[in-house]
Amino acid sequence: MPNGEHRESGSVGPTTDRAPRVAVLGASGYAGALAAALLQRHPRFELTAITSRSDAGTRLDALYPRHRVPLVMEELELDRHAEGLDAAVVAYPHHAAAPVVAALRERGVRVVDLSADFRLRDRDVYERWYGPHEAPELLGTAAYGIPELGYRDAIRDADVVANPGCFPTAALLGLQPLARAGLLDDVVIDAKTGVSGAGRAATDATHYVSVSENVAAYKVGGHRHAPEIDQELAALGAQLRPVAFLPHLVPVDQGELITAYVRTTRDAAQDELRALYADAYADEPFVELADVPAGMRDVTATNICRVSVHGDRHDGRVVVCAVIDNLWKGTSSQAVQNLNLMFGLPEDEGIAP
Ligand SMILES: NC(=O)c1ccc[n+]([C@@H]2O[C@H](COP(=O)([O-])OP(=O)(O)OC[C@H]3O[C@@H](n4cnc5c(N)ncnc54)[C@H](OP(=O)(O)O)[C@@H]3O)[C@@H](O)[C@H]2O)c1
Repeated sequence: MPNGEHRESGSVGPTTDRAPRVAVLGASGYAGALAAALLQRHPRFELTAITSRSDAGTRLDALYPRHRVPLVMEELELDRHAEGLDAAVVAYPHHAAAPVVAALRERGVRVVDLSADFRLRDRDVYERWYGPHEAPELLGTAAYGIPELGYRDAIRDADVVANPGCFPTAALLGLQPLARAGLLDDVVIDAKTGVSGAGRAATDATHYVSVSENVAAYKVGGHRHAPEIDQELAALGAQLRPVAFLPHLVPVDQGELITAYVRTTRDAAQDELRALYADAYADEPFVELADVPAGMRDVTATNICRVSVHGDRHDGRVVVCAVIDNLWKGTSSQAVQNLNLMFGLPEDEGIAP
């Protein structure tokens, strides 16, 4: 939108008395299928189309019976599918997403992009981690899709929302209160993820035999979610060296957990830390505070991030634990939360805890 203009709340274009029409592109993947399921049963959106290349012609409930979406996936035909469409969730891999997001935007369709293509605002940083960008002119124009980080107004007005990475979601919600208070000095993030984080196609590393009864670190030299975490911590006012981020694959299907070891800029006692977190998240229905570290199962199939902060430790570091379901708050229910904001709907419509 041009600077200074704001969308009318709930506006879907020329007609305002009908449900906003939404399509999911890449519905055969894990994230797209769940987004389609959430939108299919959402009381205020109309799911009009779902697409896939290799599964075109197949009903989604044949591929994923548990999602119960009785729609047939189609090959994307941009002009036909964009006709009368208000929004799309693009659930493609990075690089494939950018040109489609650009084409939808040109046709007046608002987009929540699940890929990494528009999360990083700096082209050099994007290209260092992902290679050449497919629509560089749009870099920096998307709203970063975590409302709880202070992006609500930007998301409401956005043509394109860059849905966040799953690890950054847990890490940033866990660290935000410390960042805003100027307490972050040095951060080490140890992360664990379930296997669905890698998408539907199995590889040697994600094969059942490799994952079952096993735990291993990966991307030890650097993971693409690290610069995203750095970017957003800086936007929250933190001044610190790049975070040390190291993920591990664990033998569960859905779930993500981060443990952050933080050296603080000054001593902060547990009471102060707890009050800081309670204040930061008092009005956030999707961030729960806990006294003890949560397990992945505590948030399975919810849009909730459950966070605990632990000070007064023998080594002087503050420890923050945060868990999400990578396919929900880490991707698809987060996308619905963003769509709700974009269309002036209650933020928890269709994804209430
Ligand atoms: N899984 C997670 O926990 C998670 C978390 C956060 C963000 N994300 C992001 O969400 C997006 C989807 O992830 P996913 O886990 O659902 O992946 P996935 O299971 O591999 O699904 C990818 C989808 O995109 C389609 N696709 C693949 N290559 C394509 C291409 N070149 N052009 C057009 N369509 C293509 C696939 O179907 P066809 O090949 O049949 O068209 C499929 O529908 C990714 O960008 C991922 O990084 C995922």
